[in-house]
Amino acid sequence: MRVNRRGMAMVAALVSVLACSPADGPLPADEAPAAADRRAGAPGIGDPDFPKDGNGGYDVAHYDLVVDYVPTTKRLTGVTTIKATATQDLSRFNLDLSGLDVREISVDGSPARFGRQGDELTVRPAKTIADRARFTVRVAYSGTPKPAKDSANLGTYGFVPTSDGAFVASEPNGSKTWFPNNDHPSDKATYDFTITVPTGLTALANGELVGAPATKGGTTTFRWRERHPMASYLATATLGKFDLRQGATASGIPNLAATDPRFKSSLDKLYTTSAEVTDYWSTVFGPYPFSSTGGVVDDYSAGYALENQTKPLYGGFDPDETIIAHELAHQWFGNSLTIRRWKDLWLNEGFATYAEWLWQEHKGRKTAEATFAELLKRPATDPMWTYPPGRAKPDDLFNQSVYTRGGMTLHALRRAIGDATFFTLLKTWAADHRYGHVTTDEFIDLAQRLSGKDLTALFDAWLFQPRRPT
Ligand code: TRP
Ligand code: ZN
Repeated sequence: MRVNRRGMAMVAALVSVLACSPADGPLPADEAPAAADRRAGAPGIGDPDFPKDGNGGYDVAHYDLVVDYVPTTKRLTGVTTIKATATQDLSRFNLDLSGLDVREISVDGSPARFGRQGDELTVRPAKTIADRARFTVRVAYSGTPKPAKDSANLGTYGFVPTSDGAFVASEPNGSKTWFPNNDHPSDKATYDFTITVPTGLTALANGELVGAPATKGGTTTFRWRERHPMASYLATATLGKFDLRQGATASGIPNLAATDPRFKSSLDKLYTTSAEVTDYWSTVFGPYPFSSTGGVVDDYSAGYALENQTKPLYGGFDPDETIIAHELAHQWFGNSLTIRRWKDLWLNEGFATYAEWLWQEHKGRKTAEATFAELLKRPATDPMWTYPPGRAKPDDLFNQSVYTRGGMTLHALRRAIGDATFFTLLKTWAADHRYGHVTTDEFIDLAQRLSGKDLTALFDAWLFQPRRPT
């Protein structure tokens, strides 16, 4: 993480106010840091649109999450163990955590002081962590998770209690509502989950089950492991009563579908469509990036879906083929290839929307060309034409333009470079950045390199101008 000098001074000043011992109360004056403690990790990871999201000074490799949840009391008890590497000397560093009570924090086994301000949890290890050192942070916490609310964007997200458990969908920054973490997609990590719920309920996290669920004393513990890097907003621990169908796709990818009892009639279609779509996208976008696929329908009327890694989550509706095609396309575009900055969100949503059109084309229902032509007829006054999708706005991140005009951008590109180059481009893009991070400039560069064409004007008109391209 690079932070400018002014930023650092600000951080140090802020941190000196908040650092406090486990109970509360300020640090003794003689322990207050010097005004310009350059060894303090930044409270944000450097996304100018979301200045407090994520944190600077370290890079997380792995999260081990132990979560106990009791739906009747809505109480969560957790221990999060984070393995990270310092990217600078660290006298202190931040985690993101929203609400919940922190009981105890240790760093490399030694008790650490900590303080809280808003959603920033500041940890002060007993000794400064050296630049490039690996370290382990353990945070014990509990409380009643409160979902995040954002009226400008998507309503309620994060850890959302339901009548029989919880619906967990955290884009863009709701994972801090249920575990302390570096809550920004630019720091991906692998995950282990150990989730305990009252017996009779099922806990569904990312990746695959490790061993059989273990029942003891009225509770059942589920262990899940996601062994591929994952952005924090894709982490889930969706809990409740579920009917399950398990098996594998025709090409052999393990497949798990789960539906709330209210959506039991959707189970078979969710299972078979998820399998068919996963296998089809593997032929179009290249090998499936993860170790399993599937989907979860919960009885929470979110009215939306989220592409949770390996297990897209559908909120309170029977998902049709189109939305399943969308969420599973995200496994390549968004989950394997992850944006560094939220402004590049069209690289997720434009691609997943274009995938919906490709699915219709594949099924012989409607060509992407016909979809594009129809959308292009929207009047010049349509809000889509005034919102340039190439720079998603923080107060309106999920604007329809990011989806629809983002998808149209890809079709305009396909027209300009031809089908052969376009589909080679999609596969090359997914292969070159598998499990990594991407930016819009990198996509434009690759498109130009593979096509041998200057595409600056095309991308500028489609992504960055507040008017309908001509
Ligand atoms: N990425 C989701 C989609 O396009 C939409 C979404 C954004 C979302 N933020 C969310 C869903 C938060 C659930 C929770 O499919
Ligand atoms: Zn999407």
